Amino acid sequence: MLNFNFVNPTHIHFGAQQILEIKHNISASAKVLVVYGGGSIKKNGIYNQVVEALSGFEWGEFSGIEPNPSYQTCMRAVELIKAEGYDFILAVGGGSVIDGCKFIAAASMFDAEPWDILAKGAHISKALPIGVVLTLPATGSESNSFSVISNIETEDKLPFASALVQPQFAVLDPNVMQSLPKRQLTNGVVDAFVHTMEQYLTYPVDAKVQDRFAEGLLLTLIEEGPKVLNDEASYQTRANIMWSATMALNGLIGAGVPQDWATHMIGHEITALYGLDHAQTLAIVLPRMMVQQRQEKREKLLQYAERVFGLDITDPEGAISEAISLTEQFFHQVNMPTRFSDHGLGEEVAQQVCAQLERHGMVALGEHQAVTLEKSKRILLASM
Ligand code: NZQ
Ligand code: ZN
Repeated sequence: MLNFNFVNPTHIHFGAQQILEIKHNISASAKVLVVYGGGSIKKNGIYNQVVEALSGFEWGEFSGIEPNPSYQTCMRAVELIKAEGYDFILAVGGGSVIDGCKFIAAASMFDAEPWDILAKGAHISKALPIGVVLTLPATGSESNSFSVISNIETEDKLPFASALVQPQFAVLDPNVMQSLPKRQLTNGVVDAFVHTMEQYLTYPVDAKVQDRFAEGLLLTLIEEGPKVLNDEASYQTRANIMWSATMALNGLIGAGVPQDWATHMIGHEITALYGLDHAQTLAIVLPRMMVQQRQEKREKLLQYAERVFGLDITDPEGAISEAISLTEQFFHQVNMPTRFSDHGLGEEVAQQVCAQLERHGMVALGEHQAVTLEKSKRILLASM
């Protein structure tokens, strides 16, 4: 096992009717800015629950954070915070709203040009505190320190991370999932699955706990993922998906193990250029990444084949091929397309995505920095 530091300070309130709990987690003297997306929370009753929880607080709101949150929209929220003096941000939404709030929290206390936080990795020394009411289980953003922001003028989609923007608390009520469109449920299952794979499918370091936790998450997503798409999905199925998505990227399974993230870095460029949903890009790239990195990942691929899919590995090459194929089949089982052609895209993608990767210095990706531009291009061309 590798050395690691691990702390996850986000206080989780999990379960039905937990939104009211937020009133105990925000200082009574805080001036709260409620930040949300395109308005789904007004149709499904979440907004009303938040309003009820905030009775007695001084608060205002900012709406319109779009999927793949933009720098431009976030900066409008920063202006509002500066003009009206908010000192706590309550994010009510999915990964986009939460990521947007993380950037807003840092940018409102940043003296220089906030875009440098993303483009140049500029150091953040302070940020407003954040709380979360999660409405879409997928990204794990509710209890991690990462954020991904897009610049619609320059077609950049760039990540940053800071412990200062990690949410202080997050409410996870599985009932909020009832209003989710099927496409977003699918996205959530696939994103959580790929987060787990990015931290699991590398090379062995004898990290038995991390490996078995990761396998537990993969098995749960394979078992419950197809069920959650059913209109009659039970509360328990939703709860299991929601907790899997949080656990997949809250630092626990990634502590003390090598991490990959090549699929994500390529995926972010695809979203920036063509607007595909985040998880749609991952489902296209991951199966071909597994094929391309088959030798480098051989031992973990065999472990994955045996422990996750129960395959006989006495014929190792056959088992690896089967495990890769079953991974893609799982995406299909949750109605996720896995080819560029499914989205009306063709071979032009390879050149354009590679140009973006090069522009962002993403020329040696993965746990061995072995995914060169040439390999990324092969992966993309094989994914048509
Ligand atoms: O805007 P609203 O009205 O809220 O509608 C949203 C949005 O249209 C809707 N939705 C959310 N909850 C709903 C709901 N509709 C009905 N009922 C509900 N309960 O769903 C749509 C998509 O929401 P979004 O937040 O964009 O989805 P997701 O949670 O998948 O977030 C994706 C973003 O997170 C980033 C992605 O790159 C992408 O920008 N990621 C963040 C990560 C992190 N911070 O750790 C890691 C990930 O790998 C990922 O990169
Ligand atoms: Zn992701």
